Amino acid sequence: MYIKIISFNLSSNSIDNITVIGAGTMGHGIAQAFATSGFNVNLVDVSNQVLNTAFSRINDNLNKKVNENKFSSDIATSILNRITLFSNLQESVKRSDFVIEAIIENLDAKINVLRLADQNSPAHTIFASNTSALPITLMAESLTNKDKFIGFHWFNPPPDRELLEIIKCKYTSNEVIDMALDIVKKLNRRALMINSDIRGFIANRVYRAMRYEAILMFSQNIATVDEIDSAFRYKIGWRGPFELIDYAGAIDLEITESNGFDEVRRKLPDWEPDDDYVLYRKHALNVLQTYYDKGWFGVKAGKGFYEYPGPGKWVRPTVSEEDSNNVNPMDVLSPAINLSASLIHEKISNVEDIDLSIKIGYVVPRGILELADDFGIDNIVKILEQKKEYSTSQEYSNFYTPHPLLLKMIDNSETGKKSGKGFYNYS
Ligand SMILES: NC(=O)c1ccc[n+]([C@@H]2O[C@H](COP(=O)([O-])OP(=O)(O)OC[C@H]3O[C@@H](n4cnc5c(N)ncnc54)[C@H](O)[C@@H]3O)[C@@H](O)[C@H]2O)c1
Repeated sequence: MYIKIISFNLSSNSIDNITVIGAGTMGHGIAQAFATSGFNVNLVDVSNQVLNTAFSRINDNLNKKVNENKFSSDIATSILNRITLFSNLQESVKRSDFVIEAIIENLDAKINVLRLADQNSPAHTIFASNTSALPITLMAESLTNKDKFIGFHWFNPPPDRELLEIIKCKYTSNEVIDMALDIVKKLNRRALMINSDIRGFIANRVYRAMRYEAILMFSQNIATVDEIDSAFRYKIGWRGPFELIDYAGAIDLEITESNGFDEVRRKLPDWEPDDDYVLYRKHALNVLQTYYDKGWFGVKAGKGFYEYPGPGKWVRPTVSEEDSNNVNPMDVLSPAINLSASLIHEKISNVEDIDLSIKIGYVVPRGILELADDFGIDNIVKILEQKKEYSTSQEYSNFYTPHPLLLKMIDNSETGKKSGKGFYNYS
């Protein structure tokens, strides 16, 4: 009998060659970040045009850093020289130690690509996905060795974001986790370790609840796009939810990701345990679908919630400060705070990690739970109760039911900064 012996040398020194599959919005940035930290990178895409654009975007990004005196032009050249473009996946993975896929947000497409990569990679290769919200577990199951798969979630734009969410699924081995954490260290970044394969992980799970609330408020004529974005920009210093939807290409990303949603949930109920969140999301996505159907994908299409000078030509949307008077950002954030309470209660995450993921991932000055403490937990609950009452005829109204953890905090007089204790301790 022939026994295949796989020698696993998992020290980070053994990880030199990276393949990034998909060279779009995220893939080209991930390739740049790896190459900047000294890794050799193969960047592969099905589209030659995407590859050419990716290369010139990386070149432009590096030149910008040279102009900002971040490094010399010699270093920029050596970073660029560490990146090789491929249009053939099988070739690109042949000598890879670590393969990360960043293709479109579609589970079947990801599984097909990972299978092909697995069949053509050396036995020691580790595989990862940059998915925003698809199950890591089902992707792991597509590999010969399920334990060699891990979620490795970057924020946009990858070269400038210091945090990565590292997601373990039930198959991921401890060795692979250690190796992923070593890679994060070598990338000079921080890792937020997540021990459950839950939809959206931490940052997106929480952030998207806020995004959906903004969309629902807009669709119900409670506030305009400009008013909500203005309130975020001028009152709490966050990028507005709508400008970020356009910038990140979230319209087609979320719609594409929805394909097969119910089937995935049937296979893996723990991945999305919250029925009310599912209904809430469905209604928000119905609104996004109308934009999707018109091809208004945001910056990449030249039009989304705002208009841009042309496809791919980003200029920051102008919103008047006056518009901010009409919206309290906490109205938009309260459902996400409620959801955070459930993540804390279920021990899926904790106060510090939730705030860290939002602060670094979305580059905002204060975390969502810090803001909750400033505003008062009792006031958050009042908003939730009002929203629940306002939406009683909607099938998602239970999403606004204040979480028992928030009610307990009020009972214990832990209403935030004003009482000396809330999510954080102030005494
Ligand atoms: N856009 C964001 O802000 C963001 C942030 C974090 C994570 N993500 C995740 O990163 C992934 C990529 O997102 P994106 O915004 O870069 O998408 P994108 O549409 O900009 O890029 C996807 C690329 O994958 C390529 N591709 C499709 N099928 C392929 C295949 N079989 N082989 C090789 N290449 C293939 C496409 O040609 C395209 O260039 C998704 O899983 C998304 O959820 C996106």
